[in-house]
Amino acid sequence: EKDIINKLPLRGKKVLITAGPTYEAIDPVRFIGNHSSGKMGFEIAKASANLGAEVFLITGPTHQKLQHSLVNVIPVTSAEEMYLEAHKYFKSVNVAILAAAVADYKPMQVANQKIKKSDSTLVLQLEKTKDILGSLGKIKSKQILVGFALETENELENAKAKLKKKNLNLIVLNSLKDKGAGFKTETNKVTIIDNKNTVTKYQLKSKAEVASDLLKEIIKQLDA
Ligand code: CTP
Ligand code: CA
Repeated sequence: EKDIINKLPLRGKKVLITAGPTYEAIDPVRFIGNHSSGKMGFEIAKASANLGAEVFLITGPTHQKLQHSLVNVIPVTSAEEMYLEAHKYFKSVNVAILAAAVADYKPMQVANQKIKKSDSTLVLQLEKTKDILGSLGKIKSKQILVGFALETENELENAKAKLKKKNLNLIVLNSLKDKGAGFKTETNKVTIIDNKNTVTKYQLKSKAEVASDLLKEIIKQLDA
């Protein structure tokens, strides 16, 4: 009995996860997007469910698949839709892990018809999307809130600043400097920083193993 409980440390817990890219419409047939595969978020969802959690996986467009009795997949397209779904679930979860590569900007106007090509240049005006993670940090009560940071320079300082600014418990720093880390790879090399400024550097690992390392840190925070 005790063994089973130990093996399912997230049983009875609810975990919200965002994954994948977002697509910001330009017109009915075009969008602004990014190369996120969704793999990291899906691995975190799978690992959470395997530890007994009920998962709400809010995902932008991806080719990833996940069938698990404890995972509810909530597909979205844009940052605005992801924001609305995240806020719908946040109040009822114990943990929120925001692994999505959310577009920072979206077209100010979405054309109703396909934009025709003309002889002049095309200028798109972009406005900021809502910061989903930052907005959850502002309303957080007892939830463990986890963000990711993608940095190419001043990595540690930038990640620490994000942790503080967005009121997080943990931030996972993804460095694009490392070969085999990042968007389209099967592997990742991360550094996890907690809200007491403890910095833990991990080796290059599969994304499944990174997910399991991260969940160990989250379980420590839930037990604290
Ligand atoms: N994030 C979010 N909503 C946004 C933008 C980012 O929830 N509109 C989340 C990401 O899912 C990630 C974290 O914020 O967990 C950090 O994303 P990142 O792009 O590294 O940082 P930004 O705050 O967007 O800052 P910048 O891109 O300028 O570095
Ligand atoms: Ca960003």
